[in-house]
Amino acid sequence: MAFSMLNGAENLKLVGGIAPTGLGFLGSDFHGRFFPNKVLVPQIRNSNVKSLAPKCSLSASRPASQPRFIQHKKEAFWFYRFLSVVYDHVINPGHWTEDMRDEALEPADLYDRNMRVVDVGGGTGFTTLGIVKHVDAKNVTILDQSPHQLAKAKQKEALKECKIIEGDAEDLPFPTDYADRYISAGSIEYWPDPQRGIKEAYRVLKIGGKACIIGPVYPTFWLSRFFADMWMLFPKEEEYIEWFQKAGFKDVELKRIGPKWYRGVRRHGLIMGCSVTGVKPFSGDSPLQLGPKAEDVEKPVNPFVFFLRFLLGAMAATYFVLVPIYMWLKDQIVPKGMPI
Ligand SMILES: C[S@@+](CC[C@H](N)C(=O)[O-])C[C@H]1O[C@@H](n2cnc3c(N)ncnc32)[C@H](O)[C@@H]1O
Repeated sequence: MAFSMLNGAENLKLVGGIAPTGLGFLGSDFHGRFFPNKVLVPQIRNSNVKSLAPKCSLSASRPASQPRFIQHKKEAFWFYRFLSVVYDHVINPGHWTEDMRDEALEPADLYDRNMRVVDVGGGTGFTTLGIVKHVDAKNVTILDQSPHQLAKAKQKEALKECKIIEGDAEDLPFPTDYADRYISAGSIEYWPDPQRGIKEAYRVLKIGGKACIIGPVYPTFWLSRFFADMWMLFPKEEEYIEWFQKAGFKDVELKRIGPKWYRGVRRHGLIMGCSVTGVKPFSGDSPLQLGPKAEDVEKPVNPFVFFLRFLLGAMAATYFVLVPIYMWLKDQIVPKGMPI
């Protein structure tokens, strides 16, 4: 309960069996004390409920006091221009392992090889490799705004039959009621307006289709929070749920994930910290109305300001390369079964 209160959750729903078990996830508060395997997940029951979480409008999710330097499409483009070179081999092993991926995809319910699936922000195809274990590659589309990331996906033998396209998560080039499953892993943190991306997820799904968004969770430890707020968007669990519910999704659930060697510790935040799913109950567009897109990617930016933001953002990102190494060392040193 203390965990939930400190996280700002006001409505709690016990979601049985959603705590990851295959990851050695024991569940803990951010001081490292253990919780049982079933976790209390904050769930906002209806849209009339007033939430303590920051509202998901653009201005509230990105207050001026919390600059996130790489939460723009242009900056994300350049960030991945360089990161794509080492993404699969250097970045993923610290944050997004194969067993985490398989755990995170499990609630997406990929039970039929004929399902039509879109993988949004699919990048180098790391998550798509998990998807094509369950669905025929020819039914899967990988979409990403970075041609450099997609070039890596194109080289993967298992993804040869996938459709691979450039596009924007906030403005998907798919018709309404198109896909059986919408998957997006580790991309929402770069979307300037995550609510818009989730509204798009709703639109492109068929009635009864399921969206599964895997993404970071916000740290509670002060230093991690400082760097998280500099780098990109680390949503709170209750924000994900609110975005899904506002977009019109039903049966919204959140499953916590994390690298095995963190032993369930979440105080530093996680780059891949949860898998959120929701079902589209009616065909057609989302009932949510939004104004025009916030970021005009065609608009010129001051190159000096851009470079400075990019540099600071990349520095903050470096902190999150070090955290998993620190946690790994702790896991090696502290006796098994003890909190770290
Ligand atoms: C951390 S990578 C995740 C890649 C892949 N899904 C995985 O699981 O490894 C984030 C990806 O999101 C993409 N991205 C960021 N903003 C985007 C946007 N607005 N539209 C489409 N892709 C975006 C980036 O180019 C990058 O490839």
